[in-house]
Amino acid sequence: GKGNYRHFMEKELHEHPAVLGDTLRQYLDPKTLEVRLPRLPFDPGRVPRLTISACGSAFLAGAVGRYWIEELARLPVDADVASELRYRNPPLQEGGAAILVSQSGETADTMAALRLLREGGQKVLSVVNVPESSMARESDGAVLTVAGPEIGVASTKAFTAQLAVMACLAIGFGRARRELTTLDEGRLTQALLEVPSHAAEILEKDAQIRELAAEVAKARDVLFLGRGSLTPIAFEGALKLKEISYIHAEGYAAGEMKHGPIALIDSNVPVIALCPSGPLFEKTASNLQEAAARGGRIMAFTDADGVGPLSRFAERVIELPKASAFAAPILYAIPVQLLAYHVAVLKGTDVDQPRNLAKSVTVE
Ligand code: F6R
Repeated sequence: GKGNYRHFMEKELHEHPAVLGDTLRQYLDPKTLEVRLPRLPFDPGRVPRLTISACGSAFLAGAVGRYWIEELARLPVDADVASELRYRNPPLQEGGAAILVSQSGETADTMAALRLLREGGQKVLSVVNVPESSMARESDGAVLTVAGPEIGVASTKAFTAQLAVMACLAIGFGRARRELTTLDEGRLTQALLEVPSHAAEILEKDAQIRELAAEVAKARDVLFLGRGSLTPIAFEGALKLKEISYIHAEGYAAGEMKHGPIALIDSNVPVIALCPSGPLFEKTASNLQEAAARGGRIMAFTDADGVGPLSRFAERVIELPKASAFAAPILYAIPVQLLAYHVAVLKGTDVDQPRNLAKSVTVE
């Protein structure tokens, strides 16, 4: 049941800290700070190329994985939604491997991509939440997210658990390819192990996020901006908002604003910025400032170091815990999901069963 929560989605949002802890403890050793991956169907030290595919939010978790795997393991990654991959006849490299991501393990397009990739000689690893699913069965290997059953149609805890698994895989691949030292592994593992408590701190920002939701609920269109590994999280914010509140939203890489979307900016379009301090901060902040100069209402999520600089032009700044740049996508996923949730509640939509959507899309 829903316990004391109004919706399954709200209950599942509050399971983030526990689910992230369970998933991370499955693949990280908190004592030695080492990654412990299950047996993989390919040798990450030897594969020449990796394909990542999935649908919807699961694809966005894979898209963050692409940033991490390319950065930490220097392994080239091709990431595409399954509904495209299955029809574009991609040239698959001999000895290549693939990672498919799915909560249900039953999504028709992802299953079709799985079969295409296996027929093309790729070793397929699936990241799934349902151990007895078709995908887990038909893949060459499976890594489980430990999210428990997810009832709300909009994915929440399964999404962050997928991110946690992708992060562990990226570190493991980096070690296997000798791109990371044991010291790097320890530092990255430590950063991940701090995620559950940071997630709990973020859930305590609920009142601030609800205030932001009251503004967003009045809008017809909303923009979400991120950069680097936060870009797929901006897409996730837009997807969630569309899905459950029926407000039109777009996610953009902040650097793309000036190539078109900035023309949309006026005081009616809230711009939700995912802008943690770190190496990409200045770049994103200057894109936001350009939007603010055109009347854009910037609503920023950042950490203690970002609050000062962003407050100079942003209408609202919500401070999240300071985390490593590596862990930021996992943490920033939580407030964008919470925001969509509160907007939907304010709009009175059916949060757990949005119109036209099914939990598991088993038709093409
Ligand atoms: C969005 C959402 C969907 C799913 C997508 C894939 O909130 O839930 O976009 O992520 O339909 O589903 P699975 O992960 O079951 O393959």
